[in-house]
Amino acid sequence: VDNGLARTPPLGWNSWNRFQCDISEETILSAANSLVSTGLKDIGYEYVIIDDCWHADSRDPETNEPLPNPDTFPSGIKSLSDQIHSLGLKFGIYSDAGLYTCARRFGSLGYEEIDAKTYASWGVDYLKYDNCFNEGLSGNTSISYSRYTVVTMLAPKYRLTLERYEKMAKALNATGRPIVYAMCNWGEDHSWTWAGELANSWRMSGDIGDLFTGYHPWCPCTSLENCTNFGARCSVTRILDWAADIVPYSDPGGWADLDMLEVGNGNMTKDEYITHFSMWALVKSPLILGNDLANMSKDTLEIISNKEILAVNQDPLGIAASRVWQVSVEEGGDIQLWIGPLEHGATVVAVVNTSPTNATVSVPWTDILPYELTSEQPVHVFDLWQRADDAQWGLYLGSLGSSFSFSSTMKLRSHETKVYRLVPQASH
Ligand code: DGJ
Repeated sequence: VDNGLARTPPLGWNSWNRFQCDISEETILSAANSLVSTGLKDIGYEYVIIDDCWHADSRDPETNEPLPNPDTFPSGIKSLSDQIHSLGLKFGIYSDAGLYTCARRFGSLGYEEIDAKTYASWGVDYLKYDNCFNEGLSGNTSISYSRYTVVTMLAPKYRLTLERYEKMAKALNATGRPIVYAMCNWGEDHSWTWAGELANSWRMSGDIGDLFTGYHPWCPCTSLENCTNFGARCSVTRILDWAADIVPYSDPGGWADLDMLEVGNGNMTKDEYITHFSMWALVKSPLILGNDLANMSKDTLEIISNKEILAVNQDPLGIAASRVWQVSVEEGGDIQLWIGPLEHGATVVAVVNTSPTNATVSVPWTDILPYELTSEQPVHVFDLWQRADDAQWGLYLGSLGSSFSFSSTMKLRSHETKVYRLVPQASH
């Protein structure tokens, strides 16, 4: 949506993935302070977002204004927001386009205006807007769908979700305060086709889990044609498969959201977290950290502070990388090649090994050529996961010309991803 916000994907932290409902003003402030002390704020992480469960048992009985839980947020939301702002950060909150939030706190359906006004008065800069308990005011997602048909968008059923989310969009606009609007309706009602008109980002899948492969039975989407249910616990590779179809709908100001990051939550290996972080960055997902920032390992901090990967995510062109090919190498896994355009004629290339075994991969030059580069023009190649102090973009591997092939160097461990930035020599 063209509200001047989120022209590059939002960067920040959210309480849900690590803390769920076990939150208080201390949890949120501690995360905010950690963003500053770890240097993450300085490299762009900006929004500190409270997810579900900040609520009192009910609204103010007289004014209907939303109230925070007096036990866990005794100082009130305005005071918390002021403290976050005084750290130079921005503040986000959560509600739901239904009667209740997913954790059964009060929702905003029917209270959009008073809630938006109250958020603005609290100094809210970002609203995540969930989709539980929506009273059946959503379409039937099991209806068959062709991506070339726009008629389905206009069917009355499909308008129900749109109307619920549009109400809040209007209410937020009416406050006059710039508030990033993050829709969280899990792709329901084929919202990838319309959400970008309403919101700055839009969730496209069920909830991520801290797992690399496999999926909960409620996360069945593998293509636009068979996406029949949007439930919980999707793995990194499952969401990535789904994203391969969806990210062409992503745009500056209206980003496809692959869900919050699990990096640092403990159930994946370092290579798996690197794959997770790299691919979310390449497809221009918002990068919303979901770990305990006050207690993180050196590896975790190193992954989430990779500036070269962040620069890919924040590239001014704002074009998501796309999956060029995938080849099965082993039951339950594959090698994938992803490529995307960057500013100044540069290109980002990622090679992903989702298979349970190590692999040697050949990426022919011709597979990369269509993306801005010509075979006559030598390019500098940088490996964005190998550190080098003196290089602008990670480790400089060399200058490659028309006979270029990655095949001699490309050995990928199981679940590893390599990311390269290819920079045409003239502009280097
Ligand atoms: C469902 C959302 O998809 C999650 O990200 C989280 O916000 C929970 N609801 C909170 O109840």
